[in-house]
Amino acid sequence: MAYPIKKAVFPVAGLGTRFLPATKAMPKEMLTVVDKPLIQYAVEEAAEAGIEHFIFVTGRNKSTIEDHFDHQYELMNTLRKKNKHVQIEILEKDLPSAGQTSFTRQQEPLGLGHAVWCARHLIGKEPFALLLPDMLLQSESGALKQMMAQYERLGNNVIGLYQVPLEEVDQYGIVKTESEGCKIIDMVEKPKVADAPSNLMMMGRYILQPEIMMLLETQNKGAGGEIQLTDAMLKLLQFQDFSGVQIEGELFDCGSKLGFLTANVSFALQHSEFGDEFAANIRAMTNKDYFKKHTKKNKKTP
Ligand code: UTP
Repeated sequence: MAYPIKKAVFPVAGLGTRFLPATKAMPKEMLTVVDKPLIQYAVEEAAEAGIEHFIFVTGRNKSTIEDHFDHQYELMNTLRKKNKHVQIEILEKDLPSAGQTSFTRQQEPLGLGHAVWCARHLIGKEPFALLLPDMLLQSESGALKQMMAQYERLGNNVIGLYQVPLEEVDQYGIVKTESEGCKIIDMVEKPKVADAPSNLMMMGRYILQPEIMMLLETQNKGAGGEIQLTDAMLKLLQFQDFSGVQIEGELFDCGSKLGFLTANVSFALQHSEFGDEFAANIRAMTNKDYFKKHTKKNKKTP
């Protein structure tokens, strides 16, 4: 039987340069899609998959994340005095209990691989889940939950995969799987379109064996001058199996402005309170006259 996955790592120490100035004093992971910060979607997804210990690798300006997952006594007392029971329930629902969260610092944003390695003492000798909060899935069942069944069957390492248009492969980690089945046989970080082994991207959800930490310890800088998780996983692939699960649902790369804005529209359209009204507003905005007045030809950014 596969060792149960009870710990999850959330790397939230990136600079979020694509969202400046919004991320000057606020972490990218606190950007909201409709009414919830990205990091909360990721924590809820992990809880749904059975995670009990939530480990955040933070950097500068990340104290708001710690506060977000803490009890806010003053706010709660004020809400109680005002009889705002619905709001109290929203705040209390899904809040991790005392002792379920841990925070560690990356100190310097040296790359995703380095951020994961910073959690090594909190992970110890257990396999763990890794969730990148800026990759947001809209689906009935969360990505990590979709991966758990395969982990329980095959053990070892499991990666969430998603098909992207071929011209976008140079933005992501890409894998090659065996022609039949789900075994991963190669992976490469941000390949050129011509060199890409497939169009299957790693969509920011992983179940990893603890040996990855040993390999990250000695991992040199790779693509973009950063310590890359993909490079260490490629080494682990030489002596452990990796399998891929093609994740079902709509995936939004909220690390990019376009992905983030599209996610907001898509989640708002599904909103139980105002989805229909929002759809009507969008329809009105997208009539021909509105477009003529409001769209500009895209300018190439230098
Ligand atoms: P990104 O590659 O999106 O980098 O990180 P970034 O710095 O957050 O954003 P840009 O590219 O400057 O706009 C993917 C995930 O890895 C984390 C990020 O916080 C994000 O969740 N990360 C990245 C770290 O924790 N540390 C790092 O050194 C780099």
